[in-house]
This record gives sequence, structure tokens and C-alpha cells, in this order.
Amino acid sequence: MLTARLRLVGLDIYSPPVLPRPLIERYAAHLPITASTPRLTLGEGDTPLVRAPALEARTGIAQVWLKVEGQNPTGSFKDRGMVVAVAKAVEGGARAVLCASTGNTAASAAAYAARAGLRCVVLLPEGQVALGKLAQAEVFGARVLSLQGSFDDALRVARELAADGVAALVNSVNPHRIEGQKTAAFEICEALGDAPEALCIPVGNAGNITAYWKGFREATEARMARRRPRMWGFQAAGAAPIVEGRRVERPDTVATAIRIGNPASWEGALRARDESRGAIEAVSDEEILAAYALLASREGIFCEPASAASVAGLLKRAATGVLEGAEVVVCVLTGSGLKDPDAARRLARAPERVAATAAAVRDRVFASAVV
Ligand code: F0G
Repeated sequence: MLTARLRLVGLDIYSPPVLPRPLIERYAAHLPITASTPRLTLGEGDTPLVRAPALEARTGIAQVWLKVEGQNPTGSFKDRGMVVAVAKAVEGGARAVLCASTGNTAASAAAYAARAGLRCVVLLPEGQVALGKLAQAEVFGARVLSLQGSFDDALRVARELAADGVAALVNSVNPHRIEGQKTAAFEICEALGDAPEALCIPVGNAGNITAYWKGFREATEARMARRRPRMWGFQAAGAAPIVEGRRVERPDTVATAIRIGNPASWEGALRARDESRGAIEAVSDEEILAAYALLASREGIFCEPASAASVAGLLKRAATGVLEGAEVVVCVLTGSGLKDPDAARRLARAPERVAATAAAVRDRVFASAVV
């Protein structure tokens, strides 16, 4: 009945009840939400904070926690910001949303646009987007364009188009994205009863480190936390403009999500680093892939390569003795490993062929077992 009535007045993106409470409602007091903002939701946020005993053993840190953002509806942290950006776009009367993306933003924009009944156009750097993300954008019904250029080129084009008013830009240069993404910092403070002493986070376009820092600042003001963490951001060595202090013309890394040479939120990242007395450092592709494999094989958590940059960075700091006394550390795992099956399969062995009998399997794998 109620749903039918809402449909009649064109509000069918108001969701039927979902549990836990939608992010927009849970944090309405901290978000730019008004009475006329649609309560759009796909069940984003409230992601697990998982203890990481193998990392604690390796680093000697008392508590290492993983914020598993791959558990969001489209498999990445982008959903937190996107739900707010798309809801505000609807509220503002937009008919279409537009973004440039290394893949996850595109998947998220496409999903929320589908839910809200908006058109979605995504601009992707040709040949540089992981398979799962591309498939998501397509199946959610976005118009997917493969630009002959880098992510940085795609963002330049998207900004130019948005300035003409053809669509609402939903990249993290849209402040509503940052507002939504800061809620991850709130959740961490609520779960731990305070902020951690350090937060490890991958840095690409630098929206997320900007958002977390805003979230931790606001968390102390709202008394959700007493302290603020040091922000330890990590870029891939082949795409480390902030570390090097200059644009990178041809960024290159196995972590395609953060293959970015000219981050839009560069200033925000520097502010997070400096105000928190933190650091932004580079990790090599080898270090990223080692952390990626370790997380899967020892912690049972499958994230995408870019996400593993946070753990690669923590391991590097531990190995070089610059943990600065941190006893409670959170690493943000930004996206699901299923996004990038090619990266996983490059590390894995192909399945062995075997005859379909118990004897054949026993011979192959249990032959030398004692019991
Ligand atoms: N991790 C993943 C899995 C990402 O997809 C991104 C960014 C980042 C980390 C870095 O976050 O850009 O806020 O510093 N992906 C964007 C995209 C660029 O288009 O999906 P950031």
C-alpha cells in the first residue's frame, strides 16, 4: 500500500525497510540531508571491522584491524559517497550522472543511478579497468565509454562536460561524495570506542584519505572519539605523484584502481598527512602483491590489489621500524578481490585436471597423508 502510494507520487526510490539502517538515515545529522533528500539505499556501510592476527604477529602491533569495504553493495567503499551524491543529484533535479573512473566509481555510480532511475555515463581509461568493474557498469545499464587516454584525461573530460550542465558529476570532486565516505571513520570509532592510533589507506585520486580525515576530525568534535589517528597513506610506486611532489604523466601499477598521476584531492591528502602528523609513502607492485596474497592466504580476506597497498605500507613500516608506537591500527581494504579476477589468477596455479574418482583424488592429494 505505502509503496504503491509512494510510487504514485514518483518517490519509488524510497526503499522498503532494510536492515541495518540505511547510511543516509543513520548519519543524517552529519550529512547534507534534508527532508526532500530521497532515502536512497542499497544497504551500504556498516561493513565488518575484522581483527588480523597474522598481521599482528608479523608487525608486533597489539591490534591490527581491517575495515572490509569490499562488503559494500557494489564491492567497494565508493557506495558510501555515491549514495549521498546520487540522492543529492535526484534532489537537485538531475536526470543523469557522469563520472570518470578506474572502475569502482563507475560500478557504484551505475548501480545507484539504476536504483534512482537516472541515466549514467562513465568514462574509463581504455584497457586499464579490471574485468569485474567493467561488467558491473555494463550490467547496471550505464553508458560505458572507453577513453583513449588515462584516468586523469577522463576526469578532465568529465569535469568539462559537467561544467556545461549535461549531467551531475559524481567523482569525489563532488563534496557529497566526501561527506558520505567520511562515515567509515565514524563506524571505526563506534566499533573501537575511539579512533585508532594510525589508519593505513591506499591513495589514488585522494578523495578517500580526505574523507576519512574529515570524518575523524568530526568524530572528535561529536565525541565519538577522543583522539585522531595518524594518517598513513600509500600510493603505488609507479603512480606516486604525492610522494614525488609532481604529476606523473604515465602512471603504471598492477593496482589499476590507483593508477592515477594527478590526484584531484591532492590538497586534501596533504592536509590529512600534515594535520595528523602522518605520512604518504610509496609501495612497489611486488609489495602490494605480497600483501594481497598474505591477506587472502593467512587472514582469509580477498581484496583487490589497490586495497592491499594499505597493508603493504603497514608491513613496510613495521619492517623499517617506523610504527611510532602505534598499538591500535586500522587498514582500509577498499574493494573486493572479485573485482579483479585476472590479478588473482596471475598469482594462482591453474586447477589440476584429475579423473572423477575418489581414488584418483586420493592419489593426487592425500597419498602421503598419515591419517
Ligand atoms: N582503492 C580502490 C579499490 C579504489 O577503487 C580507489 C579509487 C582507491 C583505493 C583510491 O581512492 O581515489 O579516493 O584515493 N578508485 C577511483 C575509481 C579512482 O574511479 O574507482 P581515492
